[in-house]
Amino acid sequence: MAGAELFGDRELKYIRDIFERSQPAILYRYHPKAWAAALFETRIAEHFGLNHAHAVSSGTAAIETALHAAGVGPGDEVITTAFTFLAPIEAILKLGARPVCVEIDETLNFDPDAVAAAVTGRTKAVCAIPMWGAYDVARIQEICSSRNLILVEDAAQCLGGTYRGKALGKHGVIGSFSLDFGKTLSAGEAGFVVTDDEEIYRRASEYSDHGHVHDPSVPRGQDGVRLPGFNYRISELTGAVALGQLERLDDVLNRQRSRSAKLKQSLSEVPGLTVRRSSDPEGEPGDTIIVQLETEALASATAGRLLEKGIGSKILPEALSWHFAGAWDHIWSAIDGGAPARAAEGWPRTRNLLYRSVALGISVNEDSKWDDTVVGTFRTILEES
Ligand SMILES: Cc1ncc(COP(=O)(O)O)c(C=O)c1O
Repeated sequence: MAGAELFGDRELKYIRDIFERSQPAILYRYHPKAWAAALFETRIAEHFGLNHAHAVSSGTAAIETALHAAGVGPGDEVITTAFTFLAPIEAILKLGARPVCVEIDETLNFDPDAVAAAVTGRTKAVCAIPMWGAYDVARIQEICSSRNLILVEDAAQCLGGTYRGKALGKHGVIGSFSLDFGKTLSAGEAGFVVTDDEEIYRRASEYSDHGHVHDPSVPRGQDGVRLPGFNYRISELTGAVALGQLERLDDVLNRQRSRSAKLKQSLSEVPGLTVRRSSDPEGEPGDTIIVQLETEALASATAGRLLEKGIGSKILPEALSWHFAGAWDHIWSAIDGGAPARAAEGWPRTRNLLYRSVALGISVNEDSKWDDTVVGTFRTILEES
């Protein structure tokens, strides 16, 4: 939840500014009087130290826009992970490309060996999706450069995360993010992409606005067009909320990291519990902790017991079927016509790791009593087993 837990004066200030300085709601991003979404983009680009940021209507729109801008199109294969949310898979499909989901390792990010093994003559890109912590960026970059593949990062779940000190979202040619209600920062519904590449940025801004080239010297109605696009524009009101949220980023990350460091330490002392391995523990944004138990039964018993105490798990195991390639019969049959059997049997390593896992969302507002309940519940279940 993080940023959404702190909605208040800052977001309201920017919304008020819109009502006072321009006109609310009806202004789109490229209207001459629009300023909020544009200012958000400027500040995001500064935050990442990149030349360009482009805001859109959702994280799903952001990853589709990013992949399109990077050059993914019909007939291409895009290698990604078997543990993610459906959105990037849907985006790949929508562009006429084929998602190739590979097994994860103990970091719960894709296994670099599995990525290398999945490369074919049709592979155009690797879509890396850091799941609340870094993947092995160095090895994936090496695979991409030696096989001439484009690296795109969907860091929707990892705003504020870093790998070897460099922000996730900056390790490929373009990075995408979500600002939905459950992410590190929230604008209700929104997303954005970041890149240093001028042409990729132009393609992103055109694709997300019906192909408009955004020539400032002519009225919008006379604007030129190079490529077909769509409407993924962000509204000014959403831009205003995003501006307020961005001012909270350091505070949110500090609070998440200090809370999750303490809880992780306590969980790592519980016999029978394994805190998931990380490619860069210091770089985790701290909004999610994942632990593995020895069996699926123990994981679901713990999640059930936590729920009785009013504590929901985050995705694992609560919403696993939305996040594991092995549960997506509708996707594989849309591609292959009748591949559900493959889904049921596929990705055994990923299946084994995910079904034994419990993920906990770190609220910025909870206190140590919440932590004690969580740790106590794990201890009780494991002592009873
Ligand atoms: C990896 C990933 N990409 C994209 C999205 C989609 O973001 P949104 O909900 O803003 O469309 C999500 C949402 O959870 C996600 O986890």
